[in-house]
Amino acid sequence: MADKEVVETSEAQIAVHWKEEECVYPSKEFINQANVKDETVYKRFDLDNFPECFTEYADLLHWDKSWDTILDTSDAPCWKWFVGGRINACYNCVDRHLEKNKNKTAIHFVPEPENERVQHITYQELYVQVNELAALLQDFAGLKAGDTVTLHLPMTAELPITMLACARLGVIHSEVFGGFSGRACADRIEDAKSRVLITIDGYYRSGKLIDHKQNADIAVDLAKKDGQKVDKVLIWQRYPGKNSTPTPMIEGRDYIINDLLKDYRGKKVDPVPMPAEDPLFLMYTSGTTGKPKGCQHSTGGYLAYVAGTSKYIQDIHPEDVYWCMADIGWITGHSYIVYGPLSLCASSVIYEGVPTYPDAGRAWRIAEELDVNIFHTAPTVIRALRKIDPDLPKKYNHHFKHMTTVGEPIEPQVWRWYHEVVGKGEAVIVDTWWQTETGGFLCGTVPAIKPMKPGSTGPGVPGIYPIIYDEEGNEIKAGEGRAGNICIKNPWPGAFQTIWRDRDRYVSTYYARYCKDKNSKDWRDWPYLTGDAAMEAEDGYYRILGRIDDVINVSGHRLGTKEIESAALTVMEVAEAAVVPVADDIKGVVPDLYISLKPGYEPTDELAMKISAGICDTIGKIARPRKVWLVSDMPKTRSGKIMRRVLGAISNKKDVGDVSTLANPEIVDEIQKKVSG
Ligand code: WT7
Repeated sequence: MADKEVVETSEAQIAVHWKEEECVYPSKEFINQANVKDETVYKRFDLDNFPECFTEYADLLHWDKSWDTILDTSDAPCWKWFVGGRINACYNCVDRHLEKNKNKTAIHFVPEPENERVQHITYQELYVQVNELAALLQDFAGLKAGDTVTLHLPMTAELPITMLACARLGVIHSEVFGGFSGRACADRIEDAKSRVLITIDGYYRSGKLIDHKQNADIAVDLAKKDGQKVDKVLIWQRYPGKNSTPTPMIEGRDYIINDLLKDYRGKKVDPVPMPAEDPLFLMYTSGTTGKPKGCQHSTGGYLAYVAGTSKYIQDIHPEDVYWCMADIGWITGHSYIVYGPLSLCASSVIYEGVPTYPDAGRAWRIAEELDVNIFHTAPTVIRALRKIDPDLPKKYNHHFKHMTTVGEPIEPQVWRWYHEVVGKGEAVIVDTWWQTETGGFLCGTVPAIKPMKPGSTGPGVPGIYPIIYDEEGNEIKAGEGRAGNICIKNPWPGAFQTIWRDRDRYVSTYYARYCKDKNSKDWRDWPYLTGDAAMEAEDGYYRILGRIDDVINVSGHRLGTKEIESAALTVMEVAEAAVVPVADDIKGVVPDLYISLKPGYEPTDELAMKISAGICDTIGKIARPRKVWLVSDMPKTRSGKIMRRVLGAISNKKDVGDVSTLANPEIVDEIQKKVSG
C-alpha cells in the first residue's frame, strides 16, 4: 500500500463494481419489544445537542458524584468527558444490580469440553468473587488505584472477574489476548510498566488442555530483559485445587490465586469512586510500526458509551441472554461481553473454546441450552460455519431476536445466510463498524428504526457523525460513488484518550491528517482519522472497504504488517521481510510473507518453517503466514522501498501492473514463477 495512486484506483474500482443491495426490514415482534422505537433518538443526538446528548448514556449509570463539565476540550485532541464526575465501573456492573437481581445469572461460563457442566454465576456470586479477589489484589499484591496490571487470560469466567476486581480498586487492567505468545505479552508488560502479571495454568482449545503457564515464564523473563521487572505472577487454576500445567512454579514469584483466596473468604472492598476521566484499562492494538499501541480507555465516558450502545444498538434488556462469541482479549469482548452487558444487568455467555469444537453444531447447542436470544460474532466465523455445513443451524431449535456482526466487511451472500439460516429470518442483524480505539460502535443501524442493508454497516450510530475526505481534504458526499478516508467529525465518550505514554503518536496517527488548526481547542477542527477507506451511499449508509494503512485484518484480528515483518527479522538468516494480505474465503485475508536471506544462506523448506515458527513465537499463531516465500531479492523502487503492492498482486494472482520503473524489474518475473509454482 506504499503507492498512493494504486490504492485510490483500486478503491474506486471496488466502489464502481459494487451493487447496492435491497434493504431488509425488522419484524413487528422485534420492533414492539425494542429499547428504541422512534426516530427522535437521532434528533436527540443531533450535533446541535452535542455534547449534552451523551448525558442520556451517562444517566444509565450510577455516579458517586455528578460531573461539572460534559466535555472538556482544553487539552485538544485529548478529550475529557464528564469531568468532575466520580464513578466506579465494577459497582455499576455488579453491586447496583444486587438489590433487585442478585439471583440472576450474570455470567454463563461454558467450558469447551461438552461433558463439563455450564457454570451459572449469579450477580451475588460475582459480587462475592470480585470482592475476594479485589481484597487479594489490594492486600497481597499491593495494587492500588492508578497502578497497571497485565492480564494474560483466556476465555474463562476468571477473566471478567479479574477485570472487575481491578476496576473496583481503580487499578488499570491491560488484558493481553490469551492466544498471544509470551513474547507479545512481554512487550505489553514492558510498555504498560506492570509489576504484576495475572494468568491461568491451562485452558481448553480445540479439545486440548493448553499449558498456558509456560507463556508467563517467557513473558516475565523477556520483560525483565526489556527493563520491566514483574515481582508477582498470580495464577488462576482452570480446575480449582488441581494443577493443570506441567510447568513448575517459581518460588517467591508465582502464586496460585485459588490457594491465596482461602485467606480472603467473605472479604469486602469498597469500590473506589474514580474520577471519570481516569483510565479504566489499556488495550493494545496494531499500527503501522512494529510497536503495538496501548489504547487508553477512560472510566466514565467509556462505560457510559458501552452501556448506551449496548442498550440502543444491541437492544439488550436485563432479561436477555446475550452471547458474544468474540474473545474478551479483544476490545469487542471488553465492551460487549463484559462492561456493556453487565452494566445493563443482562446475562452474558462466555464460551471457552472454538466455535467448531467438537463440531459445527456446538454454537447452536449452546444457544439452545441457555436460551440465548442475542448473538454476536464475526464474518470469519459465519463463513467458516457456512462452509462446513450450510444446513446445520436448521436442525437446532435456537431463536435469536438480534444478531450482530463485527470486525470485517461481510459479503452480502454470507449476510443472507446468517439472516435466513442462523437467524431463521426472525432476527435483525446489525453490522457494527468500529475499532479498538473507539471503545464502542461508530456505525450500525438502530435496529427497530433503520432497515438492514447487506454488506453495508449503516449510518453513524446516534451521536456519531462520519465524514469522508479525499486525499486533499475535500469532502466526498453521499452518493458520489467515490471512496475516501472515513473520519469522525466529533468526539464521543467511548473514544480512547491517548496512546499510553505516547501522546505524540496519538496526535500524529489519528488527528494530524485533517486537522484544521493545530492550536485549536475547538473539536470541530480535529476530525478523527479511522484509517479505513469507505464510501457513502445516497441513503447515508456506509460501506467499509478496508484499511488504508499497513494493517492486515485476519479473521477480524488486527495485525500490523510491520509487526509480522519485525518478527521475521528476528530470525538470524533473514535479511528483508515483506508481508502482504492475500484474500481468503474464510478469514477475509491472510498474510503472505516474502523473505530475502542474508548472503551465504540457502533457501530451504526447513528455514521457511523456522521463520514461520519464529512468527508464532513472537506474536502468536494467528499471525502464522499462509506461505513463506524465500526470494533472491525484493522488488524495489529506485529509492530502495520494497514494493509491497507488486508482491500483493503476485500473491493474489492479479496483474502486477507497470513495473518498468522498478530498480530491479526482472525480479518480478522470477517471483511470479516461484509463486505460481
Ligand atoms: C478495524 C478495527 C471493532 C472491534 C473488532 C476489531 C475493521 C471492524 C467492521 C465492519 C468492516 C470492519 C476496520 C476497522 N472493521 N468492524 N463491521 N465492517 N470492517 O477491532 O482490531 O481495532 O480492528 O476492523 O478495518 O478499522 P480492531
